[in-house]
Amino acid sequence: MYCHGNTSALPFFQRPLSKLVTSLNQNVVKIETSSTMTFLEKEVLIKLHKLFFNEINAFYEKCITNNNKTFGCITSGGTVANLTAMWVARNNAFPKTEDFEGIEKEGVISALKYYEYNDMAIVGSELMHYSFRKAADILGLGLNNIYSIPTDSEYKMRTDLLIKKLEELKLKRIKVIALIGIACTTEVGSIDNLEVLAEIAKKYNIFFHVDGAWGGSFIISDKYKYLLKGIEKADSITIDGHKLLYTPMGCGVILFKSPYIASKTIKKVASYIIRENSMDHGKTTLEGSRPANILYLHASLTLLGQHGLSTLLDMAIYNTKYMASLKCNYKIDKQSDPIFKDNLNKNINYYNLSNENNSKLNNSLYSKEENQIISYFTNELQFRQKKYGKGFVSKTTIKSAKYSNCKDGISVFRVVIANPLVTKENIKFVIEEQIKFGLDLEKEKSNFIN
Ligand SMILES: Cc1ncc(COP(=O)(O)O)c(C=O)c1O
Repeated sequence: MYCHGNTSALPFFQRPLSKLVTSLNQNVVKIETSSTMTFLEKEVLIKLHKLFFNEINAFYEKCITNNNKTFGCITSGGTVANLTAMWVARNNAFPKTEDFEGIEKEGVISALKYYEYNDMAIVGSELMHYSFRKAADILGLGLNNIYSIPTDSEYKMRTDLLIKKLEELKLKRIKVIALIGIACTTEVGSIDNLEVLAEIAKKYNIFFHVDGAWGGSFIISDKYKYLLKGIEKADSITIDGHKLLYTPMGCGVILFKSPYIASKTIKKVASYIIRENSMDHGKTTLEGSRPANILYLHASLTLLGQHGLSTLLDMAIYNTKYMASLKCNYKIDKQSDPIFKDNLNKNINYYNLSNENNSKLNNSLYSKEENQIISYFTNELQFRQKKYGKGFVSKTTIKSAKYSNCKDGISVFRVVIANPLVTKENIKFVIEEQIKFGLDLEKEKSNFIN
C-alpha cells in the first residue's frame, strides 16, 4: 500500500544528510577519495556483523587493522548484494590448487573440467527473489541452473524436497555453489527454516547465503529476532537499509561471516586507483565509484538506534496486523491467512471477493475456475482502484500448495506497511474503497460463479 506515491517516509535527519553526502561528494572506492567515509563504512559493517554473527570484541579489534579482511560492503541495493554473494560463492566453490589457478582466472569451462563437474547450480525456494536469476545469468550459470524448491503451506522451502534435489544434483555431478535461505520472501513475508537449511548446507558442503533484503533488519528487534534463528550460521547475508532501516534509496549491504572470504575470492586491484595492501574498499566491491551512502545507515543505526528502529518495526507489524484484522471483520478473505501465523507479518496477501461469492467457493483446495475468479477480481479491482479511487494496493502472483490447481498461480494483493505515518484511518479507507469497487464489480459479474 503506498501513501502519496512514496515508498516510505524517511526520518527527518536523512534530508540534510543527503545534502552533506552530495556536498562532500566522497567516493568510497578508495581511502584517498573518502578519508572519513571509508572508516565510517568499516565501523558500520562491524556493527552489523556483530548484530548478526556476534563474535567476541577481540575478533573485531584484530580485523579492523588488517587491510585484507573485510566484513562486506555497502551496495546500491539488495540486487547487487545478492549478486556479490553469488560471485563470492561461485569463486569459493572452484578454488585455486597447485595445478589450477581457480575459476576467477581460468573461467567456468576450465573450472568444471578441472573439478570434473558437469555443471553448477544455485538452489533456493520457488519464492527466491528474481535478482538470483540476474546473478545466474551474469555469472555464467544460466537460468536453467537455478533450482527452485517448492514451498509448504506456510511458504517456507520444503526441506524434504531440498534434500532430494541435492542428492539428485550430486549424482549428476552438478556443483551447487550456493543454497539460498530467504528472510523474508518478497511476495508473502515468510521466512525459511534457516536453522535447518544451515545444517543441510553444512552437510553437503554448500555456501549458505541468506537473502534478508526485506526481513534481515528484524535482527535489531528484541521482540522479533527469534524469527531469524539460524541466520548466524550463514556464510553471507543481504540486507537493505532502504527497506526497513529507514534510509534513503541506495543502501544495500552484503555481509560475510568470514572476513577473509571476499579477499580470497573476488579481490581486484588496479595501479591507478586501488593498491594491493591499501585500505581501499574498492578491492572487494562489484561497483567501482560509490557514493558515501553509509552515512545514512550510520545515522539510522545511531540516531534512531536499536530502540527507535525496533519501535518503527513494531509499528509496521502493528499496522499490518490491524489491516489483517479488518480484512477478517469485513470477511474479505474466507480463510485465515496462513502467512500470518508465525512469520514476520510484514506482508499480508489477500484477495477480495464479496461474501456472497466467498460462500460459494468450497473451503478446501480451490478449483481451477475458482482460482481464475480470484485472479480476475484481484486484477480488475486493482485496476479500478488505481484509475477511479484514491488508494492503491500492489499485487503479485502466488504459486503454492494452497493454489495447486492453478499451475500459473493466482493474483493476490500484496501489502507492505512500513511507513510509520500510515494511520488506522488510512488503512480502513483503502479497504473500504476496495469493498465498494468489489461490490460494483460483483454486480456486473453476478453470474460469474454458477
Ligand atoms: C528478498 C529480496 N531480495 C532482494 C531484493 C532486491 O533489492 P533491491 O531492490 O534493493 O535491489 C528485494 C527487493 O524487493 C527483495 O525483496
